[in-house]
This record gives sequence, C-alpha cells and structure tokens, in this order.
Amino acid sequence: MAGRIPEAFIDELIARADIAEIIGARIEIKRAGREFKALCPFHGEKTPSFTISPAKGFYHCFGCNAHGTALGFIMEYENLGFVEAVENLADLVGLEVPRETAQAAPRERYAAVYSVLAEADQIFRAHLKTHEPAVAYLKARGIDGTTAAKFGMGFAPDSWDGLISELGGGTEDNDGTEILKVAGLVIENDKGRRYDRFRNRLMFPIRDHRGRVIGFGGRVLGDAEPKYLNSPETPVFHKGQALYGLYEARQSRADLSRMVVVEGYLDVASLAQHGIPYAVATLGTATTKDHILRLTRLATRVVFCFDGDRAGRKAAWRALETALPHAGGNAEFSFLFLPEGEDPDSIVRQEGAAAFEDRLDAAQSLSDFLVKSLAAQVDNQSADGRARLATLAGPLLRRVPEGVFKALVLDTLAEAVGLSADRLGALLLPGTGEPSGPEPPRTLPLAGRSTLVRQAIGLVLHYPQRAADAAIPAGLENVPLAGTGLLLRLLETTRSHPQINSAGLLERFRDDPDGRHLGKLLAHPPQDEEDVATAVLNDCLARILDLHRRRRRAELTARSGQLTEEEKAEYHRLISDPGNSAGPDPD
Ligand code: UTP
Ligand code: MN
Repeated sequence: MAGRIPEAFIDELIARADIAEIIGARIEIKRAGREFKALCPFHGEKTPSFTISPAKGFYHCFGCNAHGTALGFIMEYENLGFVEAVENLADLVGLEVPRETAQAAPRERYAAVYSVLAEADQIFRAHLKTHEPAVAYLKARGIDGTTAAKFGMGFAPDSWDGLISELGGGTEDNDGTEILKVAGLVIENDKGRRYDRFRNRLMFPIRDHRGRVIGFGGRVLGDAEPKYLNSPETPVFHKGQALYGLYEARQSRADLSRMVVVEGYLDVASLAQHGIPYAVATLGTATTKDHILRLTRLATRVVFCFDGDRAGRKAAWRALETALPHAGGNAEFSFLFLPEGEDPDSIVRQEGAAAFEDRLDAAQSLSDFLVKSLAAQVDNQSADGRARLATLAGPLLRRVPEGVFKALVLDTLAEAVGLSADRLGALLLPGTGEPSGPEPPRTLPLAGRSTLVRQAIGLVLHYPQRAADAAIPAGLENVPLAGTGLLLRLLETTRSHPQINSAGLLERFRDDPDGRHLGKLLAHPPQDEEDVATAVLNDCLARILDLHRRRRRAELTARSGQLTEEEKAEYHRLISDPGNSAGPDPD
C-alpha cells in the first residue's frame, strides 16, 4: 500500500507540514527559543522533556526517547498506519494524496469510527449487566466486578443485527451500516447482506493510549470455535501495534519499569486482579517491533511470558528475534516459561502475586535463552557443529547493536561451545561462512564499527542542506566499512533534493532496512554547529577513505607474496596516492 504513494509527495507533505502546529493542535506546547517544549504524551511526566524542532521537522522526548517526524507523530498519537497518517496529514496541510484510493479517509471519518466504537462499547457493557450466563461465566473464571469494570468488559447478545438495529438506523438502510462496517463491527456476506460480527460473546474492548476504544476481542462463553474473534484491521485498529491492557496498566498508576507480556486477554485481567497490574497481551499475533518500541518506552525490563510447550517456545523465539535489535540499550528482555498446561491466569490464581513475581525475577535472560537454544542445536565437539553454530548465530548476532551487550553474548556463547571469544568472533564475521581461508576479512571486526561513519551520518541528518555541498571523495563507494553505503545514499539524496530537511530525509528512509536507526541518530544533539557542518563532513569523508586505504594497504602488504594482478594494481594505486596517511589513526 505505502509504495503507491509517490516519494515526492511525501517530500512535499513533510516540507509543508509545520510540526509545531500539528503537535500543538493535539497537546499543549510552549516555545523555548527556536524549539518547543511539552509534557510528553507518550509517557507520564511532570516536567517537560518533549522537544519539537520546527527547523528539523522532528520531535524527541529525552525521557522516553520517543522521536520522529510530523508523520510519525500522527501515526503514534492517533494510532494510525502509515497510509492513514499520510492521508490525515495531507488533509491538514490541504494536499490531495495522488493515489487511486478506493476509500478516501478524511478526518471526519476517523471521528465517526471512534464514536461508533465508543457507542458499541457502551452497548456491550450494558448488556453484560443483564445477561446472566455471561456474568456467571466471568464469576466461574474468577473475575470480579471491579476487574470487569476496569477493563470495560461487555457482552454481545446472540443476534445478527443487535448493533445494526441499535446504531445502524434500520436494517433496510445500508448507508447507516457503512460506518459499522468500516469500524469492523459489521460483516458483509457475498450477497451484500450485513450482519453483526460479534454475537453471543464476552467482549474485551481494546483501547489506545488515550483510552479510546479501537477494537474488540470477543470470547465464546463455552467451548465453541473459534474461541476468540477479534476486530479486523480497520483505519484505527492495527493488531501489530496494539497491546491489550496497556492503557489500563498506565491508568493503574503502578510502577511500569517492569512489564510482562502475556498471550491472553483473560491473563491480563486476572493478573491485574491479583495484584500484577503491569501485564499486557499481544492480540493473538507475534510480537512486533512496534510492540517492543512501545514497551521499552515505558519499561526498562520486559518479561515475555509463554507456555512451556513447543508452541510457546516457538513464539518466544520469534519474540527474541524481534527484540534483538533493541537489546542491550536501555531495555532488558527476559523470558518466563510456565509449566505445561498452565497460563498466567491459572498460575496467579493458584500461587498469588508474590510467587508470580518470584517467577518473573527468575526469568531467563535474553542472552541465556539465545545461547542455550543455539548450543542445544549443535554438537560443539565437532568442527561441523561449530560451523553450524556460526551459521545459526551469525545472522542473530549481527542484529544486536554494537556494544557491551553484544560482547557479553559473544563471550557466553563462546564459553558454551568451548571456543575463545576471539575465535568465535572470527567465525561469526560476515563472509566467513565458507571454510576459513588465509584472506583476512574485508569488513571491520564486530566491535570496531567506525565512529566516523556515524558522525558523518549524524551530520547529514542534522544539516541536510549543508550536506548537499559536501565533497564526496572518489572511491568512497568502495569502502566496506559498515554504514558507508547508507551514508552515500543519504548524501546522494541531499544532492538531488537540496531543499530537503531532516524530517524529509528520515521519511525517505522509513522503509529502508538500513534506515532503522536514523531517528535515533537525529535524536542525539549534533556534535558540531551548523556553520562548520560542511567542513566537518568533508573532513569525515576524507578520513573514512583514508582509514580504509591504510587498512587495505596493510592487508595487501601482509600478503604481498600472493597478490592477484588486480590486487597488485590496487596496491600501486594505494602507494602512489597515499592520502593523509601521515596523520594519526582517527579511530
Ligand atoms: P488462549 O487460547 O491462550 O486463550 O489464547 P486465553 O486467552 O488463555 O483464554 P481462556 O483462558 O481460554 O479464556 C491466547 C490469545 O490468543 C488469541 C487471543 O488474543 C487470546 O487471548 N486467540 C486465541 C485468538 O485470537 N483466537 C482464538 O481462537 C484463540
Ligand atoms: Mn487462559
């Protein structure tokens, strides 16, 4: 979907959008010099650490590290997907999205969707009060009235047109049901007949961070299939982003520095009732990057709680893979496996909150889970086994950001398989999947990622208009340093779009796998002032090339006896044009 909106349109949208105005229309902001300050809408705080830079088109919270462009803010704050956010922003700045849209989604439509969901919520709640079997079911499950009210539980009666007749303006009038359909409350069959999606089900409203109902989960009262029915994707409901119970957890004012992710709606409610108000659930889907980002904004410790069976382990492994790129920073991830046949609800009812918290305390760390799972899959005594380990661990470790945590995982893994960390590190380097030859790796060792490339990327992001004037030295495209390719593409974008600002640049790299961390770099204050940005950037670029040349020359010298013709020519080029190699090593 997103691909059908032309990039140039996103450029124009970002260029036209006044981020302060867009955020200021939603929360209270105060001018502070060239920037604006506000209380962060994404985490609870009493002193403002949320900053908006109109010049960059970027916001950043120093408290929870939320950051992004005007478009990103709308996605986050309004809980919208990319396409909907583009439409919303286009509507605000008075542009038309140049795209074949089956369904235009103007702002009024969102308001109508939210409002019909809120009405349905009230109707379901009212029904629960009078529906004996549903009340009895909750009672039998041990859910008390306070908890049911806190989570806004309701009941959808066994009727094909319950909501339609209460909200739709009569079954003959299809127009009245259109909004119910958009909101996911009504289904249309092949013959065009519309009927209620949720019938004879206990209803769990799913709320966004502002408490607005965005969708529902509905459970049968008995054993019928499917056990749960969830709202479909709608303009306001995105399963991959929503976390059941997050709003309620925040409302509880509990300490959210630790949060636990469970699988079921009832697990969340039951845990809250028994004194663990910091649990949330994914909606029957795998844990996504958005889930992780949302959680790590509030919590410094995230415990994934799964069944101990095979399905649970598989789900945990997928959560691990998603969490890896975010590990080792401010957040710590761990994994709790419950005995087979139990879930958090059954455990907390049997054992109580204190014992459940003991289990949380004893949860397996991410590195432990990773290492044990990998080590269990290979025979570490054989060369084959070690090679296989490298194949398995390499792609995973490459997803972990450089730093102490990564080194720690490497150490633990090395210990588990009886290799030195250096030896294992060498095995895991990209390009060494084949049996190791004499040739040294052409990329930097794991721990040695150049800070120069980062500095240069930071400069381009902060001062794109200055970067457009930078001198890109010939040969930079051949430098295999991590991040150089991305740096070049960023530089090229500033050249072809000399008016682009920081936000525009970020948006151009939104879907780029290499672009994931750009927002973080922009969230850090620039190392240098704008007036020297071009000069510093030129210096960085020259030093990156120089660093590469010196390393390459050392490599070729070390193998001088066995160079190919091509390498000999390269060596002569390196010797005859030594660059600034007299200077100190910039690393
Ligand atoms: P579970 O089967 O573990 O159910 O599904 P549960 O939440 O423990 O519910 P109870 O205790 O049997 O009442 C976990 C989650 O997976 C999703 C739901 O989000 C559910 O909470 N799910 C499950 C579905 O979406 N559809 C289904 O048919 C089953
Ligand atoms: Mn259960």
